[in-house]
Amino acid sequence: MPRAVVQTGDDAGIAQASALIRQGVLVAIPTETVYGLAGDATDDRAVAEIFEVKARPLFNPLIVHVLDREAAVRHAFLSDAAVRLAGAFWPGPLTLVAPRHRDCQISRLASAGLDTVALRAPAHPVARALLRKCERPLAAPSANPAGRLSPTEAGHVAAMLGERVSSILDGGPCRFGIESTVVDVSTDDPALLRPGAIAADEIEACLGHALATAGIGPARSPGMQLRHYAPRVPIRIDAERVAPTEALLAFGPTPLAGAAETLNLSLTGDTTEAAANFFAMLHRLDDPRFTGIAVMPIPARGLGIAIRDRLRRATEADDAARHPD
Ligand code: TXA
Ligand code: MG
Repeated sequence: MPRAVVQTGDDAGIAQASALIRQGVLVAIPTETVYGLAGDATDDRAVAEIFEVKARPLFNPLIVHVLDREAAVRHAFLSDAAVRLAGAFWPGPLTLVAPRHRDCQISRLASAGLDTVALRAPAHPVARALLRKCERPLAAPSANPAGRLSPTEAGHVAAMLGERVSSILDGGPCRFGIESTVVDVSTDDPALLRPGAIAADEIEACLGHALATAGIGPARSPGMQLRHYAPRVPIRIDAERVAPTEALLAFGPTPLAGAAETLNLSLTGDTTEAAANFFAMLHRLDDPRFTGIAVMPIPARGLGIAIRDRLRRATEADDAARHPD
């Protein structure tokens, strides 16, 4: 395949992307979290190609993007809790795992054979315009090869998947820069499956009670295996000093001195700003001229929780189930 064409996310670009999607062709698209590798979720072949292009194991289900709650309930049952969460956070970076209807048209492969489907209504105007135009649900995992960093700019997608996709829709840098929060609302006991761009305490405030967290991990969310989001250069977290051969991912007003190169996630110590910069800065420091990337301590509050989760996954020792998505 020739190198991917990067299309501007204007009306013409969206019309072209929509035509490709309707032909069963994959298109990389912007969302407010990260770029997604999108295909028609009702087309088994397109969905299979997503797994193939990403080299993603088939047991790891995909997120399906819809325009709104009305579209979501055509595919799955939304409990009272689910309706409340969708009302509060959609469109936006919240994914709800809900039971599929018996006649659900979404490819079983997108659900990896489970009886549930992960649904989200994205807020990015380009993603929304595409959903409106192509009139079908879009399966879209992050547009990176399995186990690599998630892309937050069109250029990241071109660098990682440029030989594997024909078209990338450019919607600028992603506002949140970290994936959506995934909540399982398929039981009476909503559970946090993946910390993400909406902090868990906001979701708990909306529900009026705590989320079960026993769900975090491979058991309830197949994509949560260790060794995810990994840069190629070794990474170490909670660094208190840095070597002159290392890159430093700093946080806060007093970065450690002495690194070969330093990028600061947030000079003011703002975890939301840090999340937006996180993958983009890791992409820039993931360079073999450094012996490693040292990351300063990120506080476990607000979006710091999701950042710490991604960092832990990037540093965890290899295991048999590495590189899920
Ligand atoms: O921000 C995002 O969510 C991005 C953008 C592109 O929307 N998408 C994304 O999708 O991160 P993906 O496919 O890389 O992540 C899907 C996550 C995985 O952890 C997966 O295991 C979980 O959602 N998941 C999907 N379907 C599920 C299901 N039926 N039951 C449990 N977990 C599910
Ligand atoms: Mg991913």
